[in-house]
Amino acid sequence: MRFLILGGDGYLGWPTAMHLAARGHEVTVFDNYLRRRIALETDSEPLVALLPLPERARRFEAETGKRIEVVLGDCCDQEHLLLTVRNAAPEVMVHYAEQPSAPYSMANQRAARLTFQNNLGATFNAIGGAGSSTRMPCR
Ligand SMILES: NC(=O)c1ccc[n+]([C@@H]2O[C@H](COP(=O)([O-])OP(=O)(O)OC[C@H]3O[C@@H](n4cnc5c(N)ncnc54)[C@H](O)[C@@H]3O)[C@@H](O)[C@H]2O)c1
Repeated sequence: MRFLILGGDGYLGWPTAMHLAARGHEVTVFDNYLRRRIALETDSEPLVALLPLPERARRFEAETGKRIEVVLGDCCDQEHLLLTVRNAAPEVMVHYAEQPSAPYSMANQRAARLTFQNNLGATFNAIGGAGSSTRMPCR
């Protein structure tokens, strides 16, 4: 099957992508590195450095012979998401593209607004906006 994983660079997204690709599915991941940017801003980067997504995919292919298509983009960018959906033609779309940290979402007004706008806008575009002419800009 063809899968599109939104938030495919994340804690759940990348293992999901590898799991599905290893089983022979066609997998595209879509991510805007929001998680990495917040980690840098808040001085909470992982102990083990994470390779950029295209490099992760290259390493995975070298190890397994299986390909994972990488698209760097923001789910809040409705046109880019729609283009990616058209290109990948997924039969299944998995939506992990959110800011999931409750402590971060309560840190200050800016973080609260970013979380609210990102999560609602990304979800709106994922579940319907990408397929319609309705616009839901996140920022
Ligand atoms: N990790 C868990 O144990 C767990 C448990 C229950 C539910 N969840 C939910 O699953 C989802 C994913 O969780 P996670 O732990 O993998 O989080 P994560 O932060 O590691 O991954 C989310 C990914 O989405 C990306 N992203 C965020 N907004 C985006 C946007 N607008 N466009 C494109 N990419 C975007 C981030 O850059 C990140 O790579 C969240 O909704 C979370 O609440 C997670």
